[in-house]
Amino acid sequence: MRIGTPAVTANRRLEPRTLPHDATSTRSSASPQASVFRRLERPSTRRPGSGPASLQTVGSEQLLAPQLVTRLELLRNTLRPTPHVPLAMKGMDLFAKLEYVNPIGSIKDRTAYWILKRAAERGQICDKTTVIESSSGNFASALAAFTRLVGLRFIPVIDPKISSTYESFLRRLCPTVVKVEELDDTGGYLKTRLEMVHRLCARIPHPYWPNQYGNPDAAEAHYKLTAGEICAEFDSLDYVFIGVSSAGTIAGVSRRLKERYPKVRVIAVDTEGSVIFGGPPRKRHIPGIGSSIVPPLLSHATIDDVVLVPERETVQACRELLTTHGLFAGGSSGTAFAAIKRYAPRMVASKRPTVLFLCADRGAPYLDTVFDTSWATTLH
Ligand SMILES: Cc1ncc(COP(=O)(O)O)c(C=O)c1O
Repeated sequence: MRIGTPAVTANRRLEPRTLPHDATSTRSSASPQASVFRRLERPSTRRPGSGPASLQTVGSEQLLAPQLVTRLELLRNTLRPTPHVPLAMKGMDLFAKLEYVNPIGSIKDRTAYWILKRAAERGQICDKTTVIESSSGNFASALAAFTRLVGLRFIPVIDPKISSTYESFLRRLCPTVVKVEELDDTGGYLKTRLEMVHRLCARIPHPYWPNQYGNPDAAEAHYKLTAGEICAEFDSLDYVFIGVSSAGTIAGVSRRLKERYPKVRVIAVDTEGSVIFGGPPRKRHIPGIGSSIVPPLLSHATIDDVVLVPERETVQACRELLTTHGLFAGGSSGTAFAAIKRYAPRMVASKRPTVLFLCADRGAPYLDTVFDTSWATTLH
C-alpha cells in the first residue's frame, strides 16, 4: 500500500496569521505576547559564528568564522553510526537500532543536522538567520544544540506535553522559548504550534522554518544516514517497524530499504488517537509519536502495513524493554516494540524473519510519565 497525501513546498515564505488567543508563554512568568515579540525583534547581539565551532582567536583578534556550510560539515563528525543490538524474541531475529546514542540523544539529530546543512548549501540560511520550529522535544533539542554550535539563533515553539527534561534543556540553550497553551481542534497542540511558527516568521527578520513536517531534506537525512547504516549492517531484512510523527524517518528509510531489500515489509507504527492514518482524533499523552495532522512527508513513504497501538500498551512495552531486555528507551520505541508483538502472528511463518525497529530516544525524559506507575493508571 502506498499512502498518498499532497506534498507541500518546504520553507515557503510564511504569511502573517492571527491566532484567536494569546497562546504564547516564555521563560518569564509574566509574559504578555507583545513583550515577547519586542524581545524577539531586537537584533541579535550574538556575533556571527560565536559558537564553539567558530574557531580561533589570535591575540585579541578573532579570525573570520568559516562559512556556515563548513561549520556544519564539522558537525558531521559527531554523528557516528548508531549500534544495533539483538533482543531475544520467540519466532524471529529481532534487532533494535539505538538511535538514542546520537549526540544530543535522539534520531532527530540526523534530521536537524541534515536540514541545516542542506539549507546552508542552498544559501537559505546565513549568519543573520533565526531558525524557528515547532517540536515536541527531540527535534528542538537537536536544533538548539546545533544552531548554538554554528552561531545561529533558534526559537523553539513547544507545548505543555513536552517532557520537563526537554523543556529545561531548551531553556538553558535558547534565549527565547515559546510555549503555546491552547489545544487545537483535534485535542492536540500541533496546529497551534504551527500557527505560532507562522506568526513568528512573519515578525522576525531573516527567519528560517525547517518545516520538519514537509521538508524533503528530513526524508533525505534518513535515506542517506539512518537507512544508509542499516543497509551496511544487514545482509537481509524482512520487516522494519517505524514509529511515525512527521513521517520524515519512514519516508527516507522506507525508500532506501525497498531499493536494497526489495521484499522487506515496512510497517508504520502509530498511536491510537493520532490522525496520520485516518483514525479519529483523540487526546494523546505520549510525545514523539502520532500527530494531529497528516504530515505531507507521508506521501514520500512506501508503507506495507500500519499498526495502531493504545498508549497503555506503549507503557507496558517500555517497561518490558527495560526490565527484560535492558533497554531504557522512550515512548515511540516502546510503541514500535508493542507493534512487533501485536504483528508477530501475521509474520510469514515459513522462516525465521529478521526484524528491525528503531529506538528513537532514551527513557529518561519519560520517567515522570511512561515510567511512572501512577501516571500510567490515568491512561484510558
Ligand atoms: C521519540 C521520537 N520517535 C519517533 C519520532 C518520529 O519520527 P518522524 O517525525 O520522523 O516521523 C519522533 C519525532 O519527533 C520522536 O521524537
